[in-house]
Amino acid sequence: MNSEIIERLNELKKEKNAVILAHIYQLPEIQDIADFVGDSLDLSRKAANTNADVIVFCGVHFMAETAAILSPDKKVIIPDTQAGCPMADMITPEKLADFKKRCGNLKVVSYVNTSAAIKAESDICCTSSNAVEVVKSVDADEIIFVPDRNLGSYVQKKSGKKMILWNGFCPTHNNMMLPENILSAKAEHSGAQVLVHPECRPEVVELADRAFSTGQMCRHVAQSSKKEFIIGTESGILYRLKQDNPDKNFYGVSSLAVCPNMKKITLAKTLDALSNMKNVVTVAKEIREKAYVPIKKMLDVKV
Ligand code: 13P
Ligand code: SF4
Repeated sequence: MNSEIIERLNELKKEKNAVILAHIYQLPEIQDIADFVGDSLDLSRKAANTNADVIVFCGVHFMAETAAILSPDKKVIIPDTQAGCPMADMITPEKLADFKKRCGNLKVVSYVNTSAAIKAESDICCTSSNAVEVVKSVDADEIIFVPDRNLGSYVQKKSGKKMILWNGFCPTHNNMMLPENILSAKAEHSGAQVLVHPECRPEVVELADRAFSTGQMCRHVAQSSKKEFIIGTESGILYRLKQDNPDKNFYGVSSLAVCPNMKKITLAKTLDALSNMKNVVTVAKEIREKAYVPIKKMLDVKV
């Protein structure tokens, strides 16, 4: 069954000049059929530079939306429109406008895990790969950072910038990976290096050897002479790490470290979306043009 779907997807990709982009948290079978697997920043860059006419985005909605903002002349489709991000939903344009007013209209840095409408009201965007450099690049002593309080507090420590943080979080990273999980993984695998995502709680980041975006984690592991790693981020990355480093061992911090939204994307839905050109992600022109500015500014920051 899967082999038939894969065969048909490959035919359709050629017929429609389509490219499949997948986030590192996607199911193994989705990573296997993707033309490119990467973190949020890698995927935005790919979406901005591809020659394809159609981008099939296997990830969550804000990622597909970012691709649509960067490539408005291409068709961006998402296999499941219900694949959202609860952290992105923790702030609305109205709440942001009110927060800005209460914080003296400081400049706003928004994590890409936000809607296009939030990006449209931001000065610059960032991902977890470039957040420290982006925040340092802002010409202001104090800024507002939305919506992830955990990434915000990590960046605050690294950049030394004064930051007012919105109280949002990723339910998977904040609630499913706790200090006790790190401590028991360390006790079980004493020689392993502990790598976590900065979306984890500060107490978890404190217990880790390093904090990395998903793409940075993959690059670090590939270059490291170490053979064992405890991984504190969404479980989909374990497949990518093992595929790319078969001689190394990876231990997830918790079996509950799963993003249910990332897992909504399946091969059958991907085929359905591409064959019927279903679920085209669009952003209204007025919002798109405003949201493009902070995303482009982010892509221009050197990392
Ligand atoms: P990165 O892939 O940029 O590290 O982001 C993680 C994430 O939670 C995406 O939703
Ligand atoms: Fe959103 Fe967290 Fe899922 Fe990433 S892992 S898409 S931040 S809910």
